[in-house]
Amino acid sequence: MLKVENLNKSFGEKRVLRNLNLEFERGNITMITGESGVGKTTLIRILCGLETYDSGKIIFLDEDNRGENSIGLVFQNLNLFPHFTVMKNIIYPLIKAKKMEKRKAILRAKELIDMLGLSGLEDHYEYQLSGGQRQRVAIARALAMEPNYLCFDEPTSALDYKLRDNVGKILQKVASKGRGVIVITHDREFAKKYGDKIYELKNTDN
Ligand SMILES: Nc1ncnc2c1ncn2[C@@H]1O[C@H](COP(=O)(O)OP(=O)(O)O)[C@@H](O)[C@H]1O
Ligand SMILES: [Mg+2]
Repeated sequence: MLKVENLNKSFGEKRVLRNLNLEFERGNITMITGESGVGKTTLIRILCGLETYDSGKIIFLDEDNRGENSIGLVFQNLNLFPHFTVMKNIIYPLIKAKKMEKRKAILRAKELIDMLGLSGLEDHYEYQLSGGQRQRVAIARALAMEPNYLCFDEPTSALDYKLRDNVGKILQKVASKGRGVIVITHDREFAKKYGDKIYELKNTDN
């Protein structure tokens, strides 16, 4: 389990997160909803170590806690490398950051390419992919690091309405592998349909 206790965060005078208490479980999908500007993205950037916080605790209670690799993020804008192929996008972090042998990295990437229905697209570049395919490459790249928890920032926002259920099914697949799935969405219907738990963040202005 990943626990957030009394988390506080301000940007200058602007208080964004106030005494936030949350729990995320592995094997589950937890949805985080709330109006634009309430601090949803800030919260997951903090969870992933990309942003500092002022006070409170973030505790990974799992026995197989793997330090900075415990949690990953699929960015809202995906952040694929445009000059790399699908395959290279997935293996590059493994080889660069994890110092994995290229042969092993390719094997792992192939499994994920299969799982996410990207077979045949290994040599494609970002501009040759649809929005849904791009997103699945970003998901494969994040999953390749084998995080215990994986955060998604608005995974349905850039996609056609009809692709929402594809995303939901991918989230379920990721959770079924024992990962904790943390999803920011402003789509309440989607949150209800696929969330095991829903948190609604509120504006902290007073
Ligand atoms: N790096 C930053 N510096 C200053 N203010 C920021 C920064 N990041 C976010 N904010 C502010 O914090 C608030 C919450 O932003 P954000 O977490 O992006 O909200 P949400 O994702 O819920 O729309 C907004 O008012 C935003 O302008
Ligand atoms: Mg946001």
